[in-house]
Amino acid sequence: MNIREQRYISMITFDNQVFHAQTNSTSYLIRVHPAGYLEQLYYGAKIRRAASYDALFEKITAVYGNTNVTPADSKLSLDNLCMEYSFAATGDYRHAPLSLQMPDFGYSGDFRYLSHRIYEGTYEENDLTKMPYAKVSPAHAQSDTATLDITLKDTVYPVYLHLIYTFFSKSDCVTRRVKIDNQSEGSIIVSKVMSLMIDLPDKNYNMHTFDGLWIKERHENIKKLVSGLYVNDSTTGSSSNRHNPLIILSRENCTEESGECIGINLIYSGNHYEAVEVSGYGKIRIMSGINPYQFAWTLDGNAAFYTPEAVLSYSSNGLCGLSHNMHQFVGSHIIPGEWAAKSRPVLVNNWEATYFDFTDAKLLKIARDAKNLGIEMLVLDDGWFGNRSDDTSSLGDWQVNEKKLGGPLKKLAEKVNRLGLKFGLWFEPEMISEKSSLYQIHPDWAVRIPGREHYPGRNQFVLDLTRQDVCEYIVAAVSDVLKSAPIEYVKWDMNRHLSDTYSANLQQRQGEFCHRYIKGVYEVMKRITDSFPHVLFESCSAGGNRFDLGMLCYMPQIWTSDDSDANERTYIQRGTSFGYPLSTMAAHVSAVPNHQTLRNVSLETRFNVACFGVLGYEIDITKLTKAEKKAISEQIIFYKTHRELFQFGTFSRTESDDNHVVWQVVSEDKKEAIVLFYQRTAMPNPQSDVLKVTGLLAGQLYEVETRRQYISIRQFGSLASQVSPIPITDEGVVQSVINKIYMLQSEKEQYRTYGDLLMNAGIKLSQQFAGTGYNEQTRVMGDYSSRLYVIKALPDDSLTDDSLTDDSLRMTALTNDET
Ligand code: DGJ
Repeated sequence: MNIREQRYISMITFDNQVFHAQTNSTSYLIRVHPAGYLEQLYYGAKIRRAASYDALFEKITAVYGNTNVTPADSKLSLDNLCMEYSFAATGDYRHAPLSLQMPDFGYSGDFRYLSHRIYEGTYEENDLTKMPYAKVSPAHAQSDTATLDITLKDTVYPVYLHLIYTFFSKSDCVTRRVKIDNQSEGSIIVSKVMSLMIDLPDKNYNMHTFDGLWIKERHENIKKLVSGLYVNDSTTGSSSNRHNPLIILSRENCTEESGECIGINLIYSGNHYEAVEVSGYGKIRIMSGINPYQFAWTLDGNAAFYTPEAVLSYSSNGLCGLSHNMHQFVGSHIIPGEWAAKSRPVLVNNWEATYFDFTDAKLLKIARDAKNLGIEMLVLDDGWFGNRSDDTSSLGDWQVNEKKLGGPLKKLAEKVNRLGLKFGLWFEPEMISEKSSLYQIHPDWAVRIPGREHYPGRNQFVLDLTRQDVCEYIVAAVSDVLKSAPIEYVKWDMNRHLSDTYSANLQQRQGEFCHRYIKGVYEVMKRITDSFPHVLFESCSAGGNRFDLGMLCYMPQIWTSDDSDANERTYIQRGTSFGYPLSTMAAHVSAVPNHQTLRNVSLETRFNVACFGVLGYEIDITKLTKAEKKAISEQIIFYKTHRELFQFGTFSRTESDDNHVVWQVVSEDKKEAIVLFYQRTAMPNPQSDVLKVTGLLAGQLYEVETRRQYISIRQFGSLASQVSPIPITDEGVVQSVINKIYMLQSEKEQYRTYGDLLMNAGIKLSQQFAGTGYNEQTRVMGDYSSRLYVIKALPDDSLTDDSLTDDSLRMTALTNDET
């Protein structure tokens, strides 16, 4: 034992056979059990280092009936030990993280501690894995990060299992993964290998998953853990819109702001699998890794297999505390290159404005109007290549349709640039249409099972990215287009699930298809993004079908959902926010009635929700009314003024009832914040709305002000004449004409108050419109309505009224007239 053992570096110590790793606020303890197994001792809030951790050892005094025991210790049953990794056929009847057929074809593998290494920084073999991984950017100290590589050896074969842990101090995250190193001469079949397994001593948790489908991704679902097995997985070939790889376990009393919780995510975009098993003894086992579904990897002699990296985080500061850890981790260790801290442009995308039906003239008109509104980039979506005028053809033919664009792409992009906008372009590189030149030449590149009927999705097929020649084609085709014109943004789409998975190249190794496919995707993404480091890449998969940490290692932002209805987005963006920061979520203002839900939500609320993310417009801006244009140009000025805050501020969800959504972003120095107050449906005579904020400085004086927004007169219907300063006698034509040029301004609330009041008491907001009476101070809300409140620190002498000496009373309401 203990060959090449190093005793400690500051973050990880090894004393008396116990590893103790500490991050800023957490501790992780593992014991090398005398019998060679790894016993999980503790994962949670930071505890001090001690000479002995006996208190944490499992105390076994006798064998429970009907259990199997270990060969070396006749009292020890692995079935009731908290373990770091477990093996089938060793008497532990909980689900095992590993399923191997060893060179003798037996389902075995009994691995015991051999040695370990501890070093600063991330895993030394990261680049060998050919997978995305968490990194330490030059801006962060290596000493904030430490790696522990524990080697276990099979008791029979020279087969080694490395459990690799990297601890990230500042974000309170630890990543885990496994390397199987087969140094035997024979092959091993790996049909399950989880990146992470951890047993915890009690089951008193709720499990949060983020589930959905197309246009309703990542809605939070919570279930209480009782005895049994809970699986969260995907089988679509992608991380999927059905079940995101992120899961959270929270204590019963855990709220957004307080209480304990643990989050688990996976840096992987293919089929994933997370399981939580509650054992008969009341312990829980958590696993995360590649889905064993249709997975079988032949690991030849003298070869190694690396799993993807899983991420684990603990917080005692509630679900928002956990999200803050995850956001910090994504921002510091996942987002690639310059985009980690670089603000993202406000764009207009032509998809919902034109779908496939556009010309260069129409695009330039959009660009011209966009410039006037303050938009910074035009993105040309699907339909610019081959003969694509609907979704039945041309995928794979990445040649510009010059007839449709009135000339080469360069010419169009330069015209857009001359109008003062950047130019961005859509691709779907992983796909092939049967109606395409590419298919004529390479029908064998489409993924299908020979001799069987095949199952198209959106009239298209997946390219076989397990093949090197296909990967080479994609890299060349996309790079050629990117080199041909000033393209500063790419939307990388992927619109169907994998099915009929088979590659002629793989022969009897078809169980490797899905994992090899996603490794092919990673290879082409890495090569292309490395070659064009200044291009902003946005990942998309029919909206949010591949919203995961793997994609984010190459592309800093993702199209969150094809659903841009603001009400639906409050669920989707909320669910996404548990694991992913706002800078990763593209969010657009689109037309009403909304194209996905047919819902009518006001222009201002569409903006107020979309600005909690990377803002864009996906609406025919050439058809906007004068009043709408005015509102949008003010929205964009507002967003640009607060862009850093919206994209990189500390985002929190605030506890609220089912009818309301309250989100906030706070700057790092806590001197600035913006709060969204969103109401789903209007209630007659509602109770007072109280606006509470978290994460401010208690003793800091702040000014709180409503963002000025516009209310359509139409919202009042036949009451319009009561509210409009311009007489309206007719609800039809006249109202419609006035509505185009004129909108009411919302009420304006303005307060000066201290942080402690805002955080503990909150502001009682102005009364909502409730049937009778209307004046400039009335908060006209209605269904699917919202306000933004801007909070700014003031110098302390801004409070001039000396009579207000008690801090808790220092709230001054300023009416519209006074301001
Ligand atoms: C699906 C995407 O999510 C949409 O935004 C759009 O790009 C279409 N594909 C284009 O086909």
